[in-house]
Amino acid sequence: MAPNMFFVSLLLLLIPASVSFQLNGEEGFISGAISEKGLDYAKDLLIHEAMSTILSLQLPQIEKTARVRLVGKCKIVLSNITFVGVNINSSYVKTGEKGIVLIASGGTAYLSMNWSYSCSTWLLPVSISDQGDAFVKVKGTQVGLTLNFENQEGSLKLILLDYGFYVGNLFIKLNGGASWLYQRVVDLFEGRIASAVEDTVSGKIREGISKLSSLLQSLPKEISLGKTAVLNVSFVNNPVLTNSSIEFEINGLVTGKNETLVPQGYHREPEASFSCGGLSNMIKISLHEDVLNSASLVYFNAGSMQWIVDKLPDQALLNTAAWRFIVPQLYRRFPNKDMELNISVSSPPIVQVTNQNIDATIHIDIIVDVEDAGEVACISMEISASCSAEILQNNVAGNLRLNDFSTYLKWTKIGPLHMHLIQLTISAILRTTVLPFVNFLLRQGIPLPYFYGFAVQNAHTMYNAPWITVCSDISFSRNYYLSQLPIFVL
Ligand SMILES: *[C@@H]1O[C@H](CO)[C@@H](O)[C@H](O)[C@H]1NC(C)=O
Ligand SMILES: *[C@@H]1O[C@H](CO)[C@@H](O)[C@H](O)[C@H]1NC(C)=O
Ligand SMILES: *[C@@H]1O[C@H](CO)[C@@H](O)[C@H](O)[C@H]1NC(C)=O
Ligand SMILES: *[C@@H]1O[C@H](CO)[C@@H](O)[C@H](O)[C@H]1NC(C)=O
Ligand SMILES: *[C@@H]1O[C@H](CO)[C@@H](O)[C@H](O)[C@H]1NC(C)=O
Ligand SMILES: *[C@@H]1O[C@H](CO)[C@@H](O)[C@H](O)[C@H]1NC(C)=O
Ligand SMILES: *[C@@H]1O[C@H](CO)[C@@H](O)[C@H](O)[C@H]1NC(C)=O
Repeated sequence: MAPNMFFVSLLLLLIPASVSFQLNGEEGFISGAISEKGLDYAKDLLIHEAMSTILSLQLPQIEKTARVRLVGKCKIVLSNITFVGVNINSSYVKTGEKGIVLIASGGTAYLSMNWSYSCSTWLLPVSISDQGDAFVKVKGTQVGLTLNFENQEGSLKLILLDYGFYVGNLFIKLNGGASWLYQRVVDLFEGRIASAVEDTVSGKIREGISKLSSLLQSLPKEISLGKTAVLNVSFVNNPVLTNSSIEFEINGLVTGKNETLVPQGYHREPEASFSCGGLSNMIKISLHEDVLNSASLVYFNAGSMQWIVDKLPDQALLNTAAWRFIVPQLYRRFPNKDMELNISVSSPPIVQVTNQNIDATIHIDIIVDVEDAGEVACISMEISASCSAEILQNNVAGNLRLNDFSTYLKWTKIGPLHMHLIQLTISAILRTTVLPFVNFLLRQGIPLPYFYGFAVQNAHTMYNAPWITVCSDISFSRNYYLSQLPIFVL
């Protein structure tokens, strides 16, 4: 096929045939999108990697026997054919319904090589031979590929749908050698050098694509969240390609570490398409509120939401003496006794993402346990709090604020209590002790679905009920990447 026809046919793939969205029922609670800007960045990264791989690549030796007038039968050998320089004039990436087309054109490659010949003729008793080096410039090279992604059991596979390589003009410059030799080399070897370049570069690109695919497939399907929980980061459905983005979905629900049960009862509406509130970012990652609700349920079921408080910054609070005016009967019956508080969350906290922040409603039981006397009373609380999230490095970290809370007496062994005073006192304890502790935990954060060597830059968090959206640019650190991985891309 003529070179330009090939590239036109690649681009034809991008013309939408029909608007058919395939959804196979599975829902992802984390969704991601790569914008045109992100794709461009990825393209430049890939081309840069490809060019540095091709550099110093060696082509197989080429040899040919030819009859030369007056000189006789000659064996000419081109060896050590090495790429010494590559550059690309322009490159282009475009997504369409059927795939991602990547074209690099106006490429120029420089090769160095050694030549040698030896000729023998019946006229002379000895054979003649010579050797030297040569330089080849390959101009007007074009490479085009069409790629797509396929979901294979929760991993993404990169598929090379179409591929083309076109070598333009070759310029050969021999150092040394006679003019007859120069003409012979050009005549005999031009085509073979061109096809050797094509074979070698094509092989390398195919190899690179398959390495990239194995790298994608080797991404973990779950991310451990401490000792208790794991975040399921399996891909669901095939990525959706539009004319301006690649969109993908990740399961995103949290399960207990050893649980094999798929969490039930979470459903979501599809999210609006790529929009970062007017910002032009490379990637967008959205978390549905059920990611947080599934985590809440897992930590609750694992008994992680329960604390025995026997130390406070103000330790005096844990003695009945401190409470003698608020709960006089407690002090009267158990004077100067130490107390412990058994604080437990009594139902899984419900999380709701609004258009401003994340709201949570938490039900807590506080059991007062007096030294030598045991449990004497239980106070229940309903706490309404809001949380804002922000990105710190590759973590979503949070900060909790108390909006409202109410208390009531659940049971008592010491008669009725003065709940108004108690509420005021507990409010103080919450603000000075519990909240700072919870905020300390939230600052540790939840890791984002990550990519090796990629760091988040200019991240913005947005709330769009029931989704939290992070729009960000990314930067790639090759050094970090190499230190993490035993294999190279390309
Ligand atoms: C092969 O080519 C490279 C690059 O020009 C050169 O450094 C090297 O010496 C050559 N090797 C031989 C055996 O000629
Ligand atoms: C590079 O591209 C420019 C315009 O895009 C063109 O004018 C120029 O001839 C190209 N150079 C090569 C070496 O292809
Ligand atoms: C092969 O070519 C390279 C550079 O083009 C030169 O440095 C080297 O000496 C040559 N080797 C032979 C055996 O001629
Ligand atoms: C992308 O597709 C939408 C409709 O599917 C169309 O309105 C829009 O103009 C297209 N954009 C480009 C850059 O082709
Ligand atoms: C999970 O199972 C492993 C062994 O199969 C066990 O050591 C670990 O304690 C379990 N973790 C939880 C949270 O149940
Ligand atoms: C993780 O998500 C995938 C895709 O939704 C699902 O098939 C798989 O069963 C989930 N694994 C667990 C342990 O929930
Ligand atoms: C704390 O209270 C919870 C809920 O009432 C109870 O299940 C747990 O056993 C208590 N823990 C201690 C150490 O008393």
